[in-house]
Amino acid sequence: MLVNGRHYRTVWMENGKVKMIDQPLLPHRFEIAEMKNHTETTEAIKTMIVRGAGAIGATAGFGMAQAFLNAPENGFDDYVKKAVETLRSTRPTAQNLFYAIDRVLAAAKKESSVKAKRKVAVSEAQRIADEDAESCKRIGEIGEKLLKDSCNISTHCNAGWLAFVDWGTALSPIYAAKRSGKKIFVYVDETRPRCQGARMTAWELLQEGIPHAVIADNATGHYMKAGKMDIVIVGADRIAANGDVANKIGTYSSAVLAKENGIAFYVAALTSTIDLKCESGDKIPIEERGQEEVTHMFGRTEDGKHGKVRIMPEGSQVFNPAFDVTPAKYITGIITEKGIVKANREEINNLFKS
Ligand code: MRU
Repeated sequence: MLVNGRHYRTVWMENGKVKMIDQPLLPHRFEIAEMKNHTETTEAIKTMIVRGAGAIGATAGFGMAQAFLNAPENGFDDYVKKAVETLRSTRPTAQNLFYAIDRVLAAAKKESSVKAKRKVAVSEAQRIADEDAESCKRIGEIGEKLLKDSCNISTHCNAGWLAFVDWGTALSPIYAAKRSGKKIFVYVDETRPRCQGARMTAWELLQEGIPHAVIADNATGHYMKAGKMDIVIVGADRIAANGDVANKIGTYSSAVLAKENGIAFYVAALTSTIDLKCESGDKIPIEERGQEEVTHMFGRTEDGKHGKVRIMPEGSQVFNPAFDVTPAKYITGIITEKGIVKANREEINNLFKS
């Protein structure tokens, strides 16, 4: 994707360092953060300097590569094992995190020498990132066909290029539609508490010159009922074998409202986000995040400084689940890099046959 005319990926690896767009600074500042080793990379995932299903996966892959590169010959296996444990503990819901760690581990396991393990870990991590970008592009080509000229799309959170290595999932069909000359308009849910919609999706759509408006999450039903939205496309952090989808908190409400109002509700996701070992949505672990995301708002103050303000009284209890599960019955279809399937066990299984 282009930022001020220059192509960027969300995350990449260069000379053993993992570089990434520093997402908490957006939309007010565009800076690249640099992680020297797997410990720093792990912390970047945990603190959400990098976030979003695919971007977390690619970063974890690179973090694994750093662990293999830096592991001492004496105690090599223990060093890698500890790195795996800490990386796996960062974001419990994001399936791509586990997918990438397991892929790098499996690739390295096939080699016997330390030198070969280091080499293959780096190349496998790079392959994961490249596949993410290619598959997201393909989701755009496939999903674009669902978008009619002059249609109004609703999206929740950020499943754009910042949430992946490039292109994104839910936003990729929108970028493809724009490039093919269709007129489109996007309603962007603000996505409290971290406001990934207001901060990142709005910023991405501005970079791409796509007409859009940010709305408070609780305005979605109002616009659906008024006939202003033709289709909803959201991303996914994990998809269970039966088609239930975990995605950013608030997705479930949007799906129920879409059904009530007769609006098609699509999930766009890489097949690597599907967890066949997970039978149904109630088995997906839901990350609970810190209270500060709810008690405070972060942003740029009128005098141009960056800061946070408290918006609720001291002493009230706070609950902050980062994701919810949308049951398969609310989902019209899942747009993957291999085609669009119904959210059911049979069609999901078919995606993995040859
Ligand atoms: O907590 P985040 O920002 O890492 O949440 C993940 C997401 O970006 C969304 O749930 C998104 O819609 C899933 S696709 C990247």
